[in-house]
Amino acid sequence: MTPAALAALHAEAFGAAPRPWTEGEFASLLAAPGVFLRAVPDGFALGRALAPAPGGEAELLTLAVRPRARRRGAGTALLRAFEGEARARGAAEAFLEVSARNGPARALYSRAGWTAAGRRPGYYADGSDALVLRRGLDAVSTGLSP
Ligand SMILES: CC(C)(COP(=O)(O)OP(=O)(O)OC[C@H]1O[C@@H](n2cnc3c(N)ncnc32)[C@H](O)[C@@H]1OP(=O)(O)O)[C@@H](O)C(=O)NCCC(=O)NCCS
Repeated sequence: MTPAALAALHAEAFGAAPRPWTEGEFASLLAAPGVFLRAVPDGFALGRALAPAPGGEAELLTLAVRPRARRRGAGTALLRAFEGEARARGAAEAFLEVSARNGPARALYSRAGWTAAGRRPGYYADGSDALVLRRGLDAVSTGLSP
């Protein structure tokens, strides 16, 4: 998926808030160290493995599924693909931020085994708090043969 396609899908998925990420921002992110993309036609997950060594951390930068394709498991599949790739890159745990007001995403993450690790009051432009969620990756499948 090209930076232009990522920007278009991100805007469609998130609407106006928060500000959609631009094509240039996606191009810069894709070129940054440790950043990886997992995509299907109707969605994508963008992640970063912060320390490419055993015991490192990973971060889910964004997750987006087109409105017309939701509630069919794509978001969960992309999240699992992010977790598997992060583990394959040596991360032992992963983190993400989600708005306290984002019910659908919070439900998805909770069901997928992510748990609360912190809160950033008033973090988003709309005044909502960011919840920091964490998931240990020890039990996550990398999809690789032993
Ligand atoms: C959050 C998002 C990625 C979910 O994608 P999705 O493909 O619909 O997710 P799934 O189909 O895998 O849903 C898995 C579970 O999450 C929960 N869930 C997802 N959307 C929900 C909603 N609107 N309301 C309540 N629960 C919801 C449900 O438990 C769901 O399982 P179910 O459909 O069997 O009930 C999608 O809604 C999206 O792109 N939202 C806008 C962008 C965004 O908020 N991204 C996350 C930012 S941190």
